[in-house]
Amino acid sequence: MAIALTLRRRPTDRSPCDAATSPHLYELAPYREEPMSPRHVLVTGGAGFIGTHLCTALLERGDHVTALDDLSAGHLPALDELLDNDRFTLMKQDVTEPIDSGPVDAVVHMAIPVGPEVVTRRPIDTLRAGSIGTLNALNVAAEHGTRFLCLSSSEIYGDPLVHPQHEDYRGNVDPTAPLGCYDEGKRFAEAATFAYRRQHDLSVGIIRPFNVYGPGMYADDRRVVPTFIRQALAGNTLTLHGGGTQTRSLCYVDDFVTGLIAMLDSTETGPVNVGSDEETTIRDLAELVVEVAGSGAVEVVPGRAQDSSVRCPDLTRARKLLSWAPTTPLRTGIERTVAWARTGQAA
Ligand SMILES: NC(=O)c1ccc[n+]([C@@H]2O[C@H](COP(=O)([O-])OP(=O)(O)OC[C@H]3O[C@@H](n4cnc5c(N)ncnc54)[C@H](O)[C@@H]3O)[C@@H](O)[C@H]2O)c1
Repeated sequence: MAIALTLRRRPTDRSPCDAATSPHLYELAPYREEPMSPRHVLVTGGAGFIGTHLCTALLERGDHVTALDDLSAGHLPALDELLDNDRFTLMKQDVTEPIDSGPVDAVVHMAIPVGPEVVTRRPIDTLRAGSIGTLNALNVAAEHGTRFLCLSSSEIYGDPLVHPQHEDYRGNVDPTAPLGCYDEGKRFAEAATFAYRRQHDLSVGIIRPFNVYGPGMYADDRRVVPTFIRQALAGNTLTLHGGGTQTRSLCYVDDFVTGLIAMLDSTETGPVNVGSDEETTIRDLAELVVEVAGSGAVEVVPGRAQDSSVRCPDLTRARKLLSWAPTTPLRTGIERTVAWARTGQAA
């Protein structure tokens, strides 16, 4: 197995991507309307859960992929197959440092601490990745005149007062709450993405993922689906915060990646919600996991201070602009995820 933990440089006649030293950089490379095939795609956060699925899909269609990741949450075993592919390179780097990836044809930006447990432990890192990291990734796209796709989040809607959430809803975010750094990091990322579009005429797209789940979520992931599956397979209780009346809409990762790539390949700006509109209460989700796993039991514990009460995307825009909609029923997705976790790969 070839592990490339350092940047595999590609030939470039351009200077490193640093706006401070290259003030006229962006006039050099107008955006190409025609996508090249195969293309070289830079994926920040590419070693993470969604990132590894995306890199796999891009490699399968013939693209060259560079995944930039500091491996703070990424898992090397998840990269085994990717690292065996000659068209895949791993740059082990913090996204808040200037990025020298060489020429690229598209940038997908998703590097940031994710999940309540990680974000509350690393609030400043979260803000830095959302702000400085996003600017660094945008600078790569601007330097090479490529399309830039920003993965925002449904958390941009905060504890929503509108249901389901459509993209024009501006949200109900508390910037001082424990997870406010994540929400505001994503809001900054969206603002920065639009700023580069306006000031540098960059082709940009923003998608807002709603709870994505599936194989590839590791045992140390404290998000709701891997937590429930871990608890159920161990024959333990599934802890329900606040009684489990909160709703979530869970999108199977393969569906999500299809929507992401549709947005990447389009010239749409968005923002576009990408997720599932099959809404479920957390209690129903827990009971489904117990049923599929064949073990475990449900227990109610006090609610978290900041747990959004409802979450469901309005997918009208995604259907219209991207001709995309999720196709995997929740039960099917949970069955596949439990089956993967049973193999022991999630450990
Ligand atoms: N999975 C979901 O349900 C969901 C929902 C909404 C939004 N999103 C967004 O989708 C993207 C991917 O999420 P995921 O579920 O794959 O999470 P993940 O934690 O598995 O992936 C994030 C990756 O970013 C890397 N990373 C974190 N900080 C970094 C830094 N400073 N420099 C370089 N790499 C860094 C981590 O090591 C990890 O591999 C994120 O932007 C997240 O905000 C995900």
